Amino acid sequence: MSQLNLWSLENTAISLLQHPSRVVAALLTLFILRRAIIRFFFPAPFTVAARIPTYLPFGIDFIAWSIYHNATSQDIILWNKIFWRYGRGSLPYTVEAVLGPDHVIFTADHENIKSILALQFSDYGKGAKFHRDWKEFLGDSTFATDGRQWQDARHMIRPLFLRERIEGLSVFEKHTRKLLRLFNGPNGQRNNIDVVNPFFRFTLDVATDFLLGVGVNSLDNPKEKFAVAFAEVQKMQRLIQVSGPLQPLVSKVSYRASIKIVNSFVEQFINRTLSLPISELENLAKNDKDYTFLSALALHTRDPAIIRDQLVAVLLAGRDTTAGTLSWAIYELSARPDVVKKLRAEIFSKLKPGDTPNFADLKSMKYLQAILSETLRLYPIISFNMRIALKDTTLPHGGDKDGFQPISVKKTP
Ligand code: HEM
Repeated sequence: MSQLNLWSLENTAISLLQHPSRVVAALLTLFILRRAIIRFFFPAPFTVAARIPTYLPFGIDFIAWSIYHNATSQDIILWNKIFWRYGRGSLPYTVEAVLGPDHVIFTADHENIKSILALQFSDYGKGAKFHRDWKEFLGDSTFATDGRQWQDARHMIRPLFLRERIEGLSVFEKHTRKLLRLFNGPNGQRNNIDVVNPFFRFTLDVATDFLLGVGVNSLDNPKEKFAVAFAEVQKMQRLIQVSGPLQPLVSKVSYRASIKIVNSFVEQFINRTLSLPISELENLAKNDKDYTFLSALALHTRDPAIIRDQLVAVLLAGRDTTAGTLSWAIYELSARPDVVKKLRAEIFSKLKPGDTPNFADLKSMKYLQAILSETLRLYPIISFNMRIALKDTTLPHGGDKDGFQPISVKKTP
């Protein structure tokens, strides 16, 4: 009997070797069976986040699933499905996937997000890999650094958020007038127009004007070299970010060529500003009209590379976020004439036609602010963000049967 079994085993082995596809299928079946058995008999303890099951090595099935939903603009559908299917109890917004060697926690729980970004700020960071992946574009700016390096960069960009700087709206005004002319068409007629592209050009012109003192004028010239290069760098940076282990296969030729264009554009302004004596820079800082973020940075450091990193990072931070939010606001308003009517009434209660609003006017427009807040709620412009654990730590939600208890988070190796 045992001889018979050995004979049939040998036959099976020979048949498998003759058909490599069968070997792969057999290995996969074993892998899936093993996963299913482990999951059934040894579920994740309640002190760690609930697991998203994956059935293929390295969680490739989950990765493919999320790439597909991202490529077809269905992220929200995917994440609702995942949280409600695999999360715990009545607070299911925290789950974990094992992707190769990494345990990745996904959370949309506001208490967890508050802990990561504020209460347990020093426990979490961007990490060395993110810094490496983004280094050529964002250098050592706040977006790509942790700890002391982040503090230094954050300190340097403080002038950006000073109240008197935020209050200066004149830089917006000239570009806004240009934008409105574009919306109205060459003869002042009202056209149907895709607002997204003009909004992205508008925010690029405002941002470069505010940061460097000279706008790139992409509203006048859509094919402006800097604008095209900046868009290419962003596109390639996204590709580098999502390509994971396949990153070495991504060609960086256009990425590096575009970074060179961005750098040489910014550098001419940096060099010009650094050639000014300190006393002149101090005068500029006091004078609202000629003040630029670049001159404020030059008062802080004489290192052109550090100044370049801060400028490019703030350009990235301020440009797409505002252009995207404005586009979504117009999209929603186009279907809500009742809201538009109320908004116009609010604006005309504060300003006469042709008036230029100042900061206090804008602050007093509560309905306008509510529209922008609602737009950001419906279309959060930074809908996905990442951090790694810099040490063994915790998150306040996701544990126990109901999801209301803390979970442990292991330091990212
Ligand atoms: C709708 C508009 C905006 C939204 C929704 C938005 C959202 C955000 C978010 C979520 C972060 C945190 C990113 C992270 O830590 O990973 C951030 C950081 C930042 N944003 Fe914005 N932002 C907007 C506009 C702007 C503008 C106009 C500027 C500058 C002109 C700006 C400058 C910055 C800077 C410098 C940081 C980094 C701060 C730090 O690392 O401490 N943002 N923004």
